[in-house]
Amino acid sequence: MARKKIALVGAGNIGGTLAHLVALKELGDVVLFDIAEGVPQGKALDIAQSNPVEGVDATMAGGNDYSVIAGADVVIVTAGVPRKPGMSRDDLIGTNAKVMAAVGEGIKTHCPDAFVICITNPLDAMVWVLRELSGLPHTKVVGMAGVLDSARFRTFLAEEFDVSVQDVSAFVLGGHGDTMVPLTRYSTVAGIPLPDLVKMGWTTQEKLDEIVTRTRNGGAEIVGLLKTGSAFYAPAASAIAMAEAYLKDQKRVLPCAAWCDGVFGLDGLYVGVPVVIGANGVEKVVEIEMNADEQAMFDTSVEAVRGLVAASRELMPK
Ligand code: APR
Repeated sequence: MARKKIALVGAGNIGGTLAHLVALKELGDVVLFDIAEGVPQGKALDIAQSNPVEGVDATMAGGNDYSVIAGADVVIVTAGVPRKPGMSRDDLIGTNAKVMAAVGEGIKTHCPDAFVICITNPLDAMVWVLRELSGLPHTKVVGMAGVLDSARFRTFLAEEFDVSVQDVSAFVLGGHGDTMVPLTRYSTVAGIPLPDLVKMGWTTQEKLDEIVTRTRNGGAEIVGLLKTGSAFYAPAASAIAMAEAYLKDQKRVLPCAAWCDGVFGLDGLYVGVPVVIGANGVEKVVEIEMNADEQAMFDTSVEAVRGLVAASRELMPK
């Protein structure tokens, strides 16, 4: 059986890390596309030369023409600009909405059967632009945010409790911005919900609140430290988990920016919710119950996403 083809649109920090992870995990052959001449070709060559050392088989190619993504099974999109210190993800919209429109056209022309994962920010609006311009089914276009936000939450919780990250599961819903909704009730250590762990004296409510705030600001914390760009290792790992769920039909339950129409009280909006990812793409949206406080936070987040989508609509080619 031929290997799967993974197209990476954007060969910057995240794109390069994605290519390396695809190779290490032997998920398929890689093509990198970027407008920067030489960059996708150079990264492809460099990673290809690491494959004999790692003992993995995957071809690596790079190009500056959309034809390189032809026939891809999975496309992961990171094209655009990242944040600089002091910027919010929303500040990127002017540049990145136009980039997403071009990428959407490229996917429509060259690989309309692909499963598409968007990472470019502001995420929930950019995945909407990508879907609109590519014309793919909504189930085949999804945004990576919740896996990353939940991973950040899990990291901080595991540190606080001094337990393995493997035994901490966490749920973060809503938009990938300051209004994201870390759901403590649905986050557990080996099945024990966080509010119970507070009662058991494992932590305090104050400490938990601090961790929630740190999770919300997780991206900005890294931008502040790096100064020249934003996080890339954890975002890449998170998107790879989603791609792997699709390619291996794992039916994983992951929080993703997915199309919500007739669920969660929404009538057509990309926002972070739990979904099942398998061979058909987004196979199910898992409609969990929220209490009044959680619903209020989710509603605020939804409103923020609606604003960004409206702004993106204005920026799109007529
Ligand atoms: N088409 C293709 N590639 C493009 C385009 C375009 N129109 N415009 C920019 N790029 C490329 C750049 O040349 C660069 O190589 O996108 C790449 C982006 O890489 P980085 O600047 O290193 O950014 P990265 O850290 O990878 O983040 C990319 O993901 O998490 C989000 O907020 C982040 O929106 C940002 C994106």
